[in-house]
Amino acid sequence: MSVIVYVPLDSSACALGADAVAQAIAREAERRGLAVELRRNGSRGMYWLEPLVEVVCGEQRLAYGPVTAEAVAGLFDAGFLSGAAHPLALGPTEAIDFLARQQRLTFARVGVVDALSIAEYVAHGGFVGLARASTMTPEAVVKEVTDAGLRGRGGAAFPTGIKWKTVLDTPAEQKYIACNADEGDSGTFSDRMLMEGDPYCLIEGMAIAGLAVGATQGYIYLRSEYPRALDILESAIRAAREIGYLGSNVMGSGRAFDLEVRLGAGAYICGEETAMLESLEGKRGIVRAKPPLPAIAGLFGQPTVINNVISLASVPIILAKGAAHYRDFGLGRSRGTLPFQLSGNLKRTGLVELAFGVTLRELLFDYAGGSASGRPIRAVQVGGPLGAYLPEDQFDTPLDYEQYAAMGAMIGHGGIVAFDDSVDMAQMARYAMEFCAVESCGKCTPCRIGSTRGVEVIDRLLAGDDRGRQLALLESLCDTMEKGSLCAMGGMTPYPVRSALKYFPRDFGIDTSRAA
Ligand SMILES: Cc1cc2nc3c(=O)[nH]c(=O)nc-3n(C[C@H](O)[C@H](O)[C@H](O)COP(=O)(O)O)c2cc1C
Ligand code: SF4
Repeated sequence: MSVIVYVPLDSSACALGADAVAQAIAREAERRGLAVELRRNGSRGMYWLEPLVEVVCGEQRLAYGPVTAEAVAGLFDAGFLSGAAHPLALGPTEAIDFLARQQRLTFARVGVVDALSIAEYVAHGGFVGLARASTMTPEAVVKEVTDAGLRGRGGAAFPTGIKWKTVLDTPAEQKYIACNADEGDSGTFSDRMLMEGDPYCLIEGMAIAGLAVGATQGYIYLRSEYPRALDILESAIRAAREIGYLGSNVMGSGRAFDLEVRLGAGAYICGEETAMLESLEGKRGIVRAKPPLPAIAGLFGQPTVINNVISLASVPIILAKGAAHYRDFGLGRSRGTLPFQLSGNLKRTGLVELAFGVTLRELLFDYAGGSASGRPIRAVQVGGPLGAYLPEDQFDTPLDYEQYAAMGAMIGHGGIVAFDDSVDMAQMARYAMEFCAVESCGKCTPCRIGSTRGVEVIDRLLAGDDRGRQLALLESLCDTMEKGSLCAMGGMTPYPVRSALKYFPRDFGIDTSRAA
């Protein structure tokens, strides 16, 4: 009987040599006449251990990592196929502390199943939600998602059920589901990990959304920098269509839903939902004024649900286990779980899915193990390039949309980037303005011109040129951008700038006793 060995096909694992490791294992097994069945799973999200190879031994999966192609022969010599000891042995995968203490709902299968095997997807609870949705009325499906308390994971945290209800209630010949897989925020990779590790989960979520609102066509707007996700999604869509999970008669329901992947061209603004629609229509990604909301007149002028990958991938478990099961996780109005993505100057970077309410301190120290450099963590940017920088005295605030908004911060897509005490926060503030200047779509003046002037003002401030005047000017510029911009690109750029100024004034050469 073959021994089953899992080697991730995830982009990050492959960047660290997973493909070469998989080839080395196949070669070595053949050379020794041993029967090995190689399966390609997603990443478990413990990137400091990638490539993480798992061997199925009885009921358990035993982990070895990080494995190099050169180490493979030694692993065979040691007898890793029967779970033998080796310096790279990590014990049962599920018992690794970083993983064992998570609450994986959306990522329950990621890293566990062979990413492209429908049989494994089904064996692990896949398509139960779609099967249930196909027997329900559209109203009942929308109510289930509303009752679960799911809010958009792409940044704005808008209630998904309300968005779906608007599309459902808008009469039209044609409606669409558009999945935002642009994943442009710094330090974020959960969309990619999900698409590469459990593509059927996104397909199932989109099919449920289609049945719920009466949309027969879906598009995944994928960033072109994710070629591996593209291959995996396209293979998965083909396989799902062949079996009847997609197509003219979804799971025998008599209702149609099909899917296509469209590639983005690599501008941050194309992640903004209306710019994404323009790009999907084949035009340059420029923000559209709202109203009308995309839910009323979106893609090609038709009612369109626009949701992030993680929002849509959270739907199958809500339908499979019921709204209450999902809603029981979290706190306040932040229900369910969020896959937090830990990156930057941290010892153990990776993905941690937990219920809302966990604190930054727990994530940074209990999970990530503190800074990689061994120096104190001085600042953390949460929520992408437009998110605030938080100092240590904010690390204990529970991660909850409202509590973060109350301190002028945001959770966004759950990206967490840590910096140690060697960071220059004035340069980070300057970078935020420069990022906005480079990535602005140019449609409105506060953002297009304001960000360019913002860089100049920060430069003059840092040069010590009439500091009081530059500070007042920067404040007023931030006000104008916040209140006068058409979209959150210009509207939120002041967040990182103002938080850097507020919490780290010394880096700007500002007298802290006056700034306090
Ligand atoms: C400048 C900018 C960039 C954005 N980039 C993304 C992105 O890469 N992915 C994403 O899902 N949402 C992004 N958003 C948020 C989307 O506009 C939109 O709120 C989201 O896709 C809706 O899906 P959700 O309700 O499931 O979160 C961005 C917003 C702005 C203003
Ligand atoms: S705020 Fe910036 S990105 Fe948004 S519409 Fe205005 S110019 Fe475009």
